[in-house]
Amino acid sequence: MCGIIGFAKSASKSISCSSILEEGLRRLEYRGYDSAGVAVIQGNRVVVIKDVGVVDKIISTSDFKSLEGNVGIGHVRWATHGRPSKVNAHPQVDCSGRIAVVHNGIIENYLELKRFLADNGHVFASETDTEVVAHLIEHFKSLGLKPFDAFKKAVSMLRGSYAIAVVDLDAPSKVFFARNVSPLVIGIGDGINFVASDIVAFIKYTNRVIVLNDGELGYISDSEVYIERDGVPVDVLSRVRVVEMSAQSIEKGGYKHFMAKEIAEQPYSLAQTLASLQSQDIAKALNTIANAKRIYIVGAGSSYHAALLGATAFKVFLGIDAEAVISSEFKAVSRAVRYGDAVIGVSQSGETIDTLLALREAKERGATTIAIVNNPFSTIARESDHVVAMKAGPEIAVAATKTFTTQVLTLLYIVARLTELVEPVEAELRISSESLKLSHEIAQKVIDELNDDCRRVAEFLLSKHSAYYLGRVFGVPIAMEGALKLKEVAYIHAEAYPAGESKHGPIALVEREFPTIFIYLGFLDEALESNVEEMKARGAYVVTVAQDDMIVGSIARYSDTVIRMPRAPLEVRLVTYAIPLQLIAYHTSVLKGLDPDKPRNLAKTVTVV
Ligand code: M6R
Repeated sequence: MCGIIGFAKSASKSISCSSILEEGLRRLEYRGYDSAGVAVIQGNRVVVIKDVGVVDKIISTSDFKSLEGNVGIGHVRWATHGRPSKVNAHPQVDCSGRIAVVHNGIIENYLELKRFLADNGHVFASETDTEVVAHLIEHFKSLGLKPFDAFKKAVSMLRGSYAIAVVDLDAPSKVFFARNVSPLVIGIGDGINFVASDIVAFIKYTNRVIVLNDGELGYISDSEVYIERDGVPVDVLSRVRVVEMSAQSIEKGGYKHFMAKEIAEQPYSLAQTLASLQSQDIAKALNTIANAKRIYIVGAGSSYHAALLGATAFKVFLGIDAEAVISSEFKAVSRAVRYGDAVIGVSQSGETIDTLLALREAKERGATTIAIVNNPFSTIARESDHVVAMKAGPEIAVAATKTFTTQVLTLLYIVARLTELVEPVEAELRISSESLKLSHEIAQKVIDELNDDCRRVAEFLLSKHSAYYLGRVFGVPIAMEGALKLKEVAYIHAEAYPAGESKHGPIALVEREFPTIFIYLGFLDEALESNVEEMKARGAYVVTVAQDDMIVGSIARYSDTVIRMPRAPLEVRLVTYAIPLQLIAYHTSVLKGLDPDKPRNLAKTVTVV
């Protein structure tokens, strides 16, 4: 949801300003690709280059490569206020062109501020909320404040969410920054410092970071990082952390797309996550859940699908009621949340605003919050009472793949560990953390052996406009994830239903060759066989994802294509059945000539409500 970067380096540093900004923008592009832009202090002016479109386009159609300077900012945009256009692209500048601002978030009171500034003679060029920041700083400077004081005064007038970076020709060696709600991190290098929405923007240069908190602001220069909160300087050194992330982990590494790479990385991500879960101290989180009066699991998008699968596992394997709630719908249940409840937030980024707000609300109502995140430095991780960290590695493609399967693994691991603490419903319904160890091997088999079958399904889907994904019980969230992937990266309308519901309405759409993808897990979903028959009787083209030995009876007779999953314990099937659906969506996208890494209108991390 927009990404920002700023840097300040010493003149003796040989690395060029354009390569720093190019690297930063490319790494942040997963956050938005409606437009991109940079501003650099070059001699006695602020040079701005910006345009609609992807980073590649901006670089290849401008003087980007010849930019020179030691201080600069950059931005990739996912439009909120103002359509994607050159004028609305960031950086936004003041009337004089001496101050340039990049921003991620939403300034809620921008219209009020805009009126005030217009009354004071400021002329606005864009429809953005961000532009008010540049003019506010200009306004306070005109009243006699020094640049940093004017910046602070401007920030004090903003309401809403923001991660902001500013260059000002009157403070030419510094980048000012401020954070409220939207993520912002500082990178501390040698003769070079950074500020950015995500560590990936500068990991090539440094892994020493400071994660900023809400309400903090300050500046970086080539040799200084200054942070204050409520006017009081922060002890910067005590806040520095070293992150374990390699520059290679955020490269495509020979794959054509990040999505393909991340699908292929699942065996490794699953193995790493399981090993990390075994070594993490999650006893407090487990105790909180075991003793909770009620359990809620919140998430958005794919994370919600993992939450739904997790909540079903709590009910089926533990006999404990757990409710999965879409983060943005948490208001619908939050009045029922009270002291003694546990609210688990599932979020790969740990920055999704809907999930963050749901967890904040839960906390206010007295619940204990537990974060399942892929980013242990994220806001959700830092604000939650307990953290269960996944080790999926950086996920760059907008579509969640390896983080979905690792979320499912993590939730099942929690359920498996809880069987040791609470009386499970029936012994035969136990799942074990031991069996989960097979997840990475089975995932590897699926990727190695079923890729071509999935591509053939994609060839069939290519000309289709609509598809159903059907499953029962655990198959429902997996079907939902499959349908989301197809919509997201292949732009084919896809809907998931509990298979039993299909005859209560959805079947009306089914005609000859209508694609219907069944997820058959062979657990509490025997009745799926009749649904396959019903669909086939209406001419549907049936694809069934099922374990090799379960492709019998109606499943064998009526499926046009079967994706033969390797034999595995139930818990491992729950982790791995989304993988063929990811492959189907990926291949469909590529065959359609789309870029699966950058689906239109989407951004990886949604930091606006
Ligand atoms: O970072 P989060 O897990 O909180 O993100 C939640 C959703 O925005 C995310 O899963 C989204 O639905 C993905 N693009 C799905 O592929």
